[in-house]
Amino acid sequence: MGQTKNFVLSAENTAWAEEIADKILKKMEKVEERNREAIPYMPHDGRYNNYNTPEMRGWWTNGFWAGIMWQLYAVTGNERYAETARFTEEVFDQCIEHYERLDHDMGFMWLHTAVADYRLTKNEKSRTRGLHVASIFSSRFNSNGNFIRAWNTWGPNDTVDKTGWAIIDCMMNVPLLHWASDETHDPRFREVAIRHTNTVMKEFIRPDGSSNHIVSFDPYTGEKIETFGGQGYENGSSWTRGQGWALYGFALAYIHTKNPEYLDTAKRVAHYFIANIPESGLIPIDFRAPKEPAWEDSSAACIAACGLLEIANYVPEYEKDCYVNAALRLLKALVEKRSNWDENVDNIIENCGVAYHSDEHNVGLIYGDYFFIEAIFKLLGKGEFLW
Ligand code: GLY
Repeated sequence: MGQTKNFVLSAENTAWAEEIADKILKKMEKVEERNREAIPYMPHDGRYNNYNTPEMRGWWTNGFWAGIMWQLYAVTGNERYAETARFTEEVFDQCIEHYERLDHDMGFMWLHTAVADYRLTKNEKSRTRGLHVASIFSSRFNSNGNFIRAWNTWGPNDTVDKTGWAIIDCMMNVPLLHWASDETHDPRFREVAIRHTNTVMKEFIRPDGSSNHIVSFDPYTGEKIETFGGQGYENGSSWTRGQGWALYGFALAYIHTKNPEYLDTAKRVAHYFIANIPESGLIPIDFRAPKEPAWEDSSAACIAACGLLEIANYVPEYEKDCYVNAALRLLKALVEKRSNWDENVDNIIENCGVAYHSDEHNVGLIYGDYFFIEAIFKLLGKGEFLW
C-alpha cells in the first residue's frame, strides 16, 4: 500500500524532511547492527535494554523495534532490516502460546510484526499469525457495554478489578480488526472495531476535544461507572500521549471506515491538542499538570504529528495547512531541542515519559523513535502504512 501523501510540502520543508530522513537512515544502520537480536525498549547510558525475557516478552511496546525495521525496509529495500524485524515476529509466537497473559495491546505488537511482514512480503505464515491474534483480540470485546477490555489483573497481588476497563490507547489496536476483516471478507472483526470506536467517541472524548485515559463500565450491564486519570496527572486531566492516541486513533478509524464522524472527532481532538502546544513546541506529559516538575513526553508529540499528517491527507485543500503546519511545528521543535544524532547512542528522540506517576521521566523510549521516524517519512510520502 505504501504511504499516502495528499498534501503539498514547500520546497524548504521538503529539503528539511529529506535531510532528517537521511540522518535517520545513517544513524539507524548502526543502531540496527547493535540490536539485531534484541527487542529494545529504553536506552540506559545510550544503549537499549532487551525486553526479550520471559517476564517482558509480551510488553505492549515490543512491536515498535520491528516497526522501525519495516519502515527502514520499505524505504531502503535492504533485506537486513526485514530479517531483524522477523526476529521479533518469531519470538512473539511464544506470546501467542501464553495468550491468557496478553492485554489488549495486540495491535501495537502484531501490526508492526506479522501484519507488516505480510503487507510488505506476502509471507503467508505472517498472515496466519495476524489472523490468529485478531481472533484472540476480538474475544476481549464485551457486548454488554460495546467496549474492548483493556487490561488483565497483573499477577496474584493485583486486587484491582479491571474487567470493565477500557482505555483510549486501544484506538491504536483496533486497526488489527479492520485489517482482519479486509483479509477475510468477514465483517465480524470490523463490527467489533466500530462498536468499540463508537463507545469511545461517546464516553471518552470530552466536549472540549480532550480525552479521558480510562473509563470503567459495569461488565454485566454495560453502564458507564467512572473515569480514571490513568497515566496522566489526575482524573479529569489530559495525559498527552492519550490525547495523541485519540487524535491518531480516530484518524485511523476514519481511514478504515470512511465514517465522517470519526474524521470530525479526530479534528476536534487535533484542535484541542494544537491549542495546547506550548510556546517551546515541546509537549508536557499532561496538558493539565502543574508546570513543575517540567516533565515532557516527546512521544506524544510524535504520535500527534503522525495523526495530524493523516488528517491532512483527508481534509479539503483549504484545511490541509493547519494540520501539516502543526505537525511540522512539533517535529521541528524535537529536531532542534530533543534529538540525538550520535551514532553511539541508540535512541534519537529524548525526553519521553512513561506515565506522570512513574519514575521514568525525560527518557528515550522505543515508541518515541518509531513515531518520529514514521512522521518524517510521512512528510515525504515514504515508508509503509502499518496501521
Ligand atoms: N499504555 C500505553 C501507553 O503507555 O501509552
